[in-house]
Amino acid sequence: MTQLGKFITIEGQDGAGKSTNIMVVEACLKEQGIDYLNTREPGGTRLGEQIRELLLSDGDDLIGDYAELLLMFAARAQHIDEVIEPALSSGQWVLCDRFTDATYAYQGGGRGIAMQRIAELEQNVQGELRPDFTLLLDLPVEQGEQRAGDRSAPDRFEQQQIDFKQRVRDCYLQRAAAEPNRIKVVDASASMAQVEAAVISVMQDFLR
Ligand code: TMP
Repeated sequence: MTQLGKFITIEGQDGAGKSTNIMVVEACLKEQGIDYLNTREPGGTRLGEQIRELLLSDGDDLIGDYAELLLMFAARAQHIDEVIEPALSSGQWVLCDRFTDATYAYQGGGRGIAMQRIAELEQNVQGELRPDFTLLLDLPVEQGEQRAGDRSAPDRFEQQQIDFKQRVRDCYLQRAAAEPNRIKVVDASASMAQVEAAVISVMQDFLR
């Protein structure tokens, strides 16, 4: 694939404020007149949304950890083929609410699947495709739980214990430390106005 557009992803624990800050990122792209599409994982295609239903609905014991990992990558394979690659190769930018960093954090950190197994699937499914820029919204686990809990009934991942969520956060932060040029961490525990200002600042640096 010849990639002409840029691939931006947004990551963070549940309750970190992704939805609000996706709008902030969109405003930055619009201001620059960038043509982009907004999508999400798991999901973004008809098949992907069906897989999402399976993955997020109640009943943790119904899906084993490795099956969960493969379902994430099955949804991703379809998403790349149907949406992401066609957009990027036509010059459109893609803004994706979660991508493979979430798989490392949740299935690797959270579930304890070996990172190497995830890396092999990443290579098989994505080839060379990696995000150009990733915004990581970070906040203490307790605060995320509180915010997510205020919203709606918890999904399969939001129902996990605090130690699972702590491993998810730790893994995200380790990835950010390993790839500081790609992954920009924003402190999402600050006030909404401060978080928004920080998101605008990292976006402006990237777009410069
Ligand atoms: P969200 O769209 O509300 O963030 O919900 C998606 C959930 O799916 C979230 O709890 C994180 C989880 N997830 C994984 O466990 N692995 C993945 O690879 C992705 C993309 C999401």
